[in-house]
Amino acid sequence: MLTATAIAHANIAFIKYWGNRDETLRLPSNNSISMNLANLDTRTRVTFNPNLKADTLTLNQIPQAGSGLERVSDFLARVRALSGVPHFAAVHSENNFPMGAGIASSASAFAALSLAASAAAGLTLNERELSRLARTGSGSACRSIPAGFVEWQQGTGDSDSYALSIAPPDYWHLADCVAITCKAHKTTGSTEGHALASTSPLQQVRVSAAPQRVEQCRSAILNRDFAAFAEVVELDSNLMHAVMMTSTPPLLYWQAPTLNVMHAVRRWREEGTPVCYTIDAGPNVHVLTPQRYAQEIEGRLRQLSGVEDVLVAAPGGAAQILQE
Ligand code: DP6
Repeated sequence: MLTATAIAHANIAFIKYWGNRDETLRLPSNNSISMNLANLDTRTRVTFNPNLKADTLTLNQIPQAGSGLERVSDFLARVRALSGVPHFAAVHSENNFPMGAGIASSASAFAALSLAASAAAGLTLNERELSRLARTGSGSACRSIPAGFVEWQQGTGDSDSYALSIAPPDYWHLADCVAITCKAHKTTGSTEGHALASTSPLQQVRVSAAPQRVEQCRSAILNRDFAAFAEVVELDSNLMHAVMMTSTPPLLYWQAPTLNVMHAVRRWREEGTPVCYTIDAGPNVHVLTPQRYAQEIEGRLRQLSGVEDVLVAAPGGAAQILQE
């Protein structure tokens, strides 16, 4: 049976990926750094079947058609080309985090799909090869292949653009308290957003100093230096949103509750609590803090107006095959 099941975690970027040098291969404009999110994951089963007339996809038990299926089918075509397995595949995928909660699911989805589809097709890929494959499905998915704290090296081409673990999950006891401010779907997806990045006059400024921020973030993680970490993480998130807001057409992902959380986090830090924020392509705010403060921060976030829910995640492991 050409079948396999895999699980992968979502990740949150501390240094952001925004803009590609090559849109087709998803070669990014800069290195990025992220942390896998332990209890936010996608579980995917892939079965190549000679009787199928086309690829099929069910997401949380619901059959998919249109652009979602197309993106998965394009990806499976790459696995067919690599493995020589000619059959179409049935893909069943489930997220354990609420859909539409604004937690990017493409990272965990394409990481789990890369592992399950390559294993089902009989390919034995090492971690770097898997990360490269996942990258072609969704850029940030390459960072959900290795464990813990991860750096995506932009590389010079397809062969050297992949993610590596810089520290295991238990290296630093950080927590991501995700303040869900709006459960509605975002209007402009990341793929379209990346294509707009170069229209912002600020993108070049953001990209040119990215190596220094990557360096500062990597050392802050390795030294478990929260103050240095907070400074560079907020700066990098603000720079990405400045690019988004100044592209043509402009993208404005923040809602009123987003700003509410940002101001609260800054106030708490001024009062002495080690805490900082980072925001992806949506209105939710990822609030980072050492694990011993997580419960306190979760409670405070829940009191803020416009915060609908809070999910708390610790650093997560690598993508894995599940034996069934
Ligand atoms: C803002 O990886 O979702 O979350 O490659 O088009 O799937 P595609 O884009 P995606 O972009 C992620 C953008 C981000 C920042 C980040 O995760 O680094």
